Amino acid sequence: MGITFEQVSYRYKERALKQHLALDHIDLSLKTNQFITIVGAPGSGKSTLLQHLNGLLRADHGTIHVLDMVISPSPAKLPKGLNQRIGLVFQYPEQQLFKETIWEDLLYGPLNFDMSKTEAELAAKTAAEFMGLDDLILAKCPYQLSSGQIRKAAIAAVLAAGPEIIVLDEPTASLDASSRLELMTLLHRQCQEQGRTVIVVTHALEEVAPFTDQIIVMDEGTIAFVGKPHELVNRTDLIDKAGLQIPAAYELYAALQKPLRLSKLDHYPSAAELAAVIKAAIS
Ligand SMILES: Nc1ncnc2c1ncn2[C@@H]1O[C@H](COP(=O)(O)OP(=O)(O)OP(=O)(O)O)[C@@H](O)[C@H]1O
Ligand SMILES: [Mg+2]
Repeated sequence: MGITFEQVSYRYKERALKQHLALDHIDLSLKTNQFITIVGAPGSGKSTLLQHLNGLLRADHGTIHVLDMVISPSPAKLPKGLNQRIGLVFQYPEQQLFKETIWEDLLYGPLNFDMSKTEAELAAKTAAEFMGLDDLILAKCPYQLSSGQIRKAAIAAVLAAGPEIIVLDEPTASLDASSRLELMTLLHRQCQEQGRTVIVVTHALEEVAPFTDQIIVMDEGTIAFVGKPHELVNRTDLIDKAGLQIPAAYELYAALQKPLRLSKLDHYPSAAELAAVIKAAIS
C-alpha cells in the first residue's frame, strides 16, 4: 500500500482566470511507513498537494490512491475513514483548534471516530504526553497558548485520532531551534516505532535531512524531484529555485571530500562520521 497521484490537476476556482494550475498533472508514487519531506518555493503547490491527501481539496482531474482508498474528483464520494486514517496538521494550526479547552480538542477526533469515552481519553492522554502537553496546558483555551504550544496541541489533536498517515504543513514554523529538533525527532519516532507515514512540508532542509527517507521538490504545481536528501544536494538548480539552503553537514563533507579522498555520500552524514572526517583532516 502506498500513495499514488495519477495525472492530478487542481485550479483554485477563485482565480479561475489565472493561467497556471496549482497542481499541474501530477504523477507521484510514494511508499508508506516512511518519513517524507516536501519542499519548494512559496506558491509551488505544497499545501494544495497536502490537502488533496485527506479530501479537503478535490482534484479537478486525476485519481489519488492513499493506502487502500481511492479519491476520485468530486462528485464521487470520499472514501469512508479517510479523515481518520489521514491526519492533517494545517499550516496555520490555530485554524484547527475550535473547542473551549485543548483537552476537548484532543478528545474531539477520537470521539468523532467512534472510540468509547474511555478509549478516547486514553488516546488523548497518550497524544498529550507524547507532545509534552501538561494538565495546565490541556485546561487552557487555544488563545491562552503561545504559538509553539498551539502547534503542539494541533499535532496532539491529530495524533489522538490514531491516523496511519500524518501530514504536517510547515510544523516547525513559530518554534525555536531546540523545539524544532525535538519535534522532528518525535515525528521520526512516530514513523519508526508506530509504523506511521509522516509527510512534512518545510522550508528548512537542515532540520529534516537527517530524518528524511524521501524528499520531493515542487515547482510551479509540478513535481521537480523525488529522491534522497543527499541526491538533492547535488541539484543546486533546484535548491536555488526552491530557496533552500544546503545543510551544513553536507557542505562540510563536500569541502573535505576531495582533499581527503572521501567516498561519495550515500546518506546523511552522522555527527560521529563528521567528527572522524574532521579529525582526519587536522591530523
Ligand atoms: N485559497 C486560494 N485561492 C486562490 N489561489 C490560491 C489559494 N491558495 C493557494 N492559491 C494559489 O495556488 C498556488 C499554490 O499555493 P500553495 O498554497 O499550495 O503553495 P505553497 O507551496 O504551499 O506555498 P507556501 O510555501 O507559501 O505555503 C499559488 O499560486 C497560490 O497563490
Ligand atoms: Mg503552503
